[in-house]
Amino acid sequence: MRKLSGILTGMAKHPSDALLGENNIYEVENLSKAYGETRVLKNVHFRLGKGEQIAIMGPSGSGKSTLLHCLGGVDKADTGRLYFEGNDLQTMDSTSIAGLRRSRITSIFQFFYLLPTLTVRENIAFPLQLLGLKGKTRKDQVAEMLAHVNMEPRADAYPNELSGGEQQRVAIARALITHPSVVLADEPTGNLDSQNGRRILELIQRLITEQGIALMLVTHSKEAAGICQRTWHMQDGHLQNKTPCQEAKS
Ligand SMILES: Nc1ncnc2c1ncn2[C@@H]1O[C@H](COP(=O)(O)OP(=O)(O)OP(=O)(O)O)[C@@H](O)[C@H]1O
Ligand SMILES: [Mg+2]
Repeated sequence: MRKLSGILTGMAKHPSDALLGENNIYEVENLSKAYGETRVLKNVHFRLGKGEQIAIMGPSGSGKSTLLHCLGGVDKADTGRLYFEGNDLQTMDSTSIAGLRRSRITSIFQFFYLLPTLTVRENIAFPLQLLGLKGKTRKDQVAEMLAHVNMEPRADAYPNELSGGEQQRVAIARALITHPSVVLADEPTGNLDSQNGRRILELIQRLITEQGIALMLVTHSKEAAGICQRTWHMQDGHLQNKTPCQEAKS
């Protein structure tokens, strides 16, 4: 897949970029967030390297989705530092964050969120359209991605004509079409039966690894976590990020 570097311009970088590890996708320090009196994230601290694949497990309500929302720039933490490729997400304006979300940080969700009035092909093309990519280049990239997720035969179908597994394959294609640095996946198999879930996990893992994309995968399933290199545990707003994946499998 072709890189779309250079399409996004003018994004504010932190003046101390040089101090940040250039191989890190995320640098997060003392990130905390509360909803009213409830502290949901408590001094979360981690680095995510290029192409690193991390699963996050933990009890319901422990703050996993809230963390992904902050990492994706759709929500803001109250305090702490959060850098994405040297960009300070805590202070960046919403237009610049939207720019990152169009290309560099993408998401896969439990409930797919495909655009119902667009076909499979159009859903996959949509992020490229937002980036202003036109004509043959866009068409070629979409065709390539349709093949990657094995959805060529259903390219002209609408989301409501697809099975859950097929919808998630389209959502994966849409998430990867811009060649992002990181994919944030929140329980991507939570709405699928175990066989379909397994296929989706294999697909995510294969494409992410082939393309060197980093992954943060929130899941309740040890099997799902097993596709990642490491598993970190979220407990009552604290992220314990020292546990090797093998432990999560045992
Ligand atoms: N917009 C909000 N307003 C108020 N409280 C919220 C909001 N979003 C989340 N919370 C609360 O923050 C806490 C963490 O929620 P979060 O969705 O991050 O948990 P989670 O670990 O993803 O849980 P699950 O595994 O059930 O998805 C919960 O107590 C939740 O009720
Ligand atoms: Mg959640």
